[in-house]
Amino acid sequence: MTNRRVGIIGAGAVGATAAYTLAMKGICKEIILFDIAEGVAQGKAIDIAQATQYAPQPTILTAANSPADIKDCDIVIITAGVPRKGDMTREDLLMINATIIKSVTQDVMKYSPNAIIVSVSNPLDVMTYAIQKITAWERNRIIGLAGALDGARMAYQIYKKLGYGAGQTGTLVIGDHGQNMVPLPQKVQVGDVPTTDLLDDEEFEGIIERTRNGGAEIVKYLGTSGYYGPGSAIAHMVEAILNDSKAVVSCSVGLNGEYGYQDVTVGVPVVLGKNGIEEIVQMTLNTKTKEKFKKSVESIQEGIAILEKNGFFE
Ligand code: APR
Repeated sequence: MTNRRVGIIGAGAVGATAAYTLAMKGICKEIILFDIAEGVAQGKAIDIAQATQYAPQPTILTAANSPADIKDCDIVIITAGVPRKGDMTREDLLMINATIIKSVTQDVMKYSPNAIIVSVSNPLDVMTYAIQKITAWERNRIIGLAGALDGARMAYQIYKKLGYGAGQTGTLVIGDHGQNMVPLPQKVQVGDVPTTDLLDDEEFEGIIERTRNGGAEIVKYLGTSGYYGPGSAIAHMVEAILNDSKAVVSCSVGLNGEYGYQDVTVGVPVVLGKNGIEEIVQMTLNTKTKEKFKKSVESIQEGIAILEKNGFFE
């Protein structure tokens, strides 16, 4: 990708941290931030632009004054949304965020019609599905952040259990980006050693549980969800796309028969490159994992059904 121009819609905690991480990697020529809250994108763009003074490569950071300024981007990252507040049901939140996503997506279609979209807003898999339906683009161009983050959280739990292998541990998590996610610590390696040689069943169960609660653990301490982990995972995905590195990363993608499902977006390992999703990697799942994956897919389908019930696609 020659322009290396990345747009970020939603310059809150996650969007701004993704921008900062990308800027520190020095892999984009330009990053442009937009946020509906006045001054947010402007202030963060200036701050990050000044931080790039000490980055390995220059990156131009700007703020968009309107969605129309997020134009001709190679990649657009969508993090716009509202957090769940006390009196909101899950369904309320889903419909509020879906409505935001719809308007933001229509802007992307208008102003960056050739972009690859990295979807980040929650509930992640359902929002990724909504973006896919709204755009009707080829499925390879709509990619949801899921396993890159959950997998990093799983690798961290494996490291915490073993006390070694940081940065050397696999990250395989499939399924939804939520309570029914399917971490697969038994399938990864630490260095070149299979974890099955290092951990027993009980330890695997503990790692799976803690991975699922990885986000909640941060909320417990901070009162807000994490953003360094998400920012770093987004940057990892963007880097693979911009550099056409063909890295294998678990992402939420539209299935078309793979893993036995269609018309749903869910986390599976994919190959990321200049076309977005270059390929969906098909793994063989054992019966127990297939059951967990099914439950996970069903939880996403329930979310999609809420959108349908509320006439979202009409
Ligand atoms: N257009 C642009 N920006 C918007 C819009 C919109 N229509 N609606 C909301 N925003 C902005 C908000 O003003 C806010 O700055 O989206 C930003 C969201 O940022 P935060 O509230 O800080 O939330 P953050 O922690 O960054 O999470 C963003 O990612 O991981 C998911 O669950 C998370 O859906 C959430 C999203």
